[in-house]
Amino acid sequence: MREVDTVIARRLSSDVALINQIAGYIVHAGGKRMRPKLVLLFANALQHTSPDRFELAAVVEFIHTATLLHDDVVDESSMRRGKKTANALFGNAASVLVGDFLYSRAFQMMVSVNQMRVLEVLADATNVIAEGEVLQLMNMHDPDISVESYLRVIRFKTAKLFEASARLGAVLAQSNAAIEEACAAYGRALGTAFQLIDDVLDYEGDPAALGKNVGDDLREGKPTLPLLIAMERSSQDERDLIRHAIEHGEVERLNEIVQIVRKTGALDATREAARAEAAQARDALNLLPPSIWREALLEFCAQSVERSF
Ligand code: IPE
Ligand code: IPE
Ligand code: MG
Ligand code: MG
Repeated sequence: MREVDTVIARRLSSDVALINQIAGYIVHAGGKRMRPKLVLLFANALQHTSPDRFELAAVVEFIHTATLLHDDVVDESSMRRGKKTANALFGNAASVLVGDFLYSRAFQMMVSVNQMRVLEVLADATNVIAEGEVLQLMNMHDPDISVESYLRVIRFKTAKLFEASARLGAVLAQSNAAIEEACAAYGRALGTAFQLIDDVLDYEGDPAALGKNVGDDLREGKPTLPLLIAMERSSQDERDLIRHAIEHGEVERLNEIVQIVRKTGALDATREAARAEAAQARDALNLLPPSIWREALLEFCAQSVERSF
């Protein structure tokens, strides 16, 4: 990961001062670096050791960072990685444009690896992420969306990049199709678990640990799984309150709704769904030879469900 940070720092630079300032601001704020870690762990687990793995690890972190810059504008979020968001500090226009810079820089870097399959995986992933964010926009303020529709959004907007990151390790290692699919399945399931927990933490997380505000999903009228389950399990009055909140983005009665979400066990049920995904991710690793890298990937399964940030 030190090597990856070196690549990130080198590739971040631009002659345009504002790009260095904003891109540097969000990248150096840290973050868990989950996606680059997946690239390296899978490459290592499959005995691939070329420096291309550092380049691609930086690529997926750049794509992730670009989506965060854009996502915080769309969600009107004010805190990220324990600091003010770029949009809060530099404005929406600058955030969107620097996000574009990071996307296109990522494209330049992936081309430098000179493998058509790598381009294919990353072109597909970025396209699907965009579809996911637009699908989510269409679901906004709609209390009648199905669990299936919600799951489609999170598989697209979040799990797809986890999937691509894991898959790239196998592509670099020129693994056979069965191994590549197992890696992809791991990423997909882990990413789904990861977003399910993100949606739980938006209701009961600690902003200090999380580094972002909680309650944003409800404020925005985002119908995530905790709300969908709570509606299924509550009385008519409670259901009406939640429906109204999703339709209008409720702030005044946030506490009441959080109480309903808790009381109905919707957070535990969402955690349970995340656990099931994490178990699938774990199973997918059976095809990999035992190694310390595989152990680390197994640990990620538990961490993604138990995490508080
Ligand atoms: C945030 O991703 C966006 C989601 C998919 C929930 P991370 O939680 O991986 O963000 P950082 O990179 O650690 O800040
Ligand atoms: C983020 O989803 C997914 C992407 C960045 C594509 P969220 O909107 O739930 O993530 P946070 O909570 O802002 O990190
Ligand atoms: Mg957001
Ligand atoms: Mg969220």
